[in-house]
Amino acid sequence: MKVLQGRRVCSYTKIFAAWVLLALTASTQAVELTPRESHAYTQICAYCHARAETSAPVMGDTAEWQRRAAETEGGFEGLVRNTIVGIGNMPPLGTCGYCTETEIRNLVATMSGLAPSVSRSSPSSSTSSPKKEANTQ
Ligand code: HEC
Repeated sequence: MKVLQGRRVCSYTKIFAAWVLLALTASTQAVELTPRESHAYTQICAYCHARAETSAPVMGDTAEWQRRAAETEGGFEGLVRNTIVGIGNMPPLGTCGYCTETEIRNLVATMSGLAPSVSRSSPSSSTSSPKKEANTQ
């Protein structure tokens, strides 16, 4: 009886350890999108960015995203800026009229796999840099 109980505990521990490992690897992989962002991606961005026949860089094409970041002034932030103002055949905001800057940044991070998650608690200062604001006061 005692032996049986011991075995049971052992296998539960193993399952728990495996679960923790899984949870850890999953959480370090991608930016977590809000439901609104997921909706924007599937309904708007994916229309072009999930199809190789458009000239848009495809989600998950790491080499292409890295090349773009390297060639764009400001790297990842430059890609975000280009998405907001529009570039080539992509209209401003990637045609997502309701997307905020933070949402665009998260979508670009997810699509490119280039940057870590944006802290949602940070004040959403839009285009002006916080340093400039501090200087004027
Ligand atoms: C109508 C098609 C279309 C839609 C919709 C669209 N894109 Fe694009 N996107 C493009 C094309 C085409 C390019 C390549 C532009 C170029 O390099 O000339 C591009 C490029 C980009 C780039 C790289 C910019 C750079 O500087 O290289 C980012 C980032 C991006 N899109 C993000 C988004 C996001 C986020 C959304 C959804 C909110 C979105 N796009 C929706 C067509 C689209």
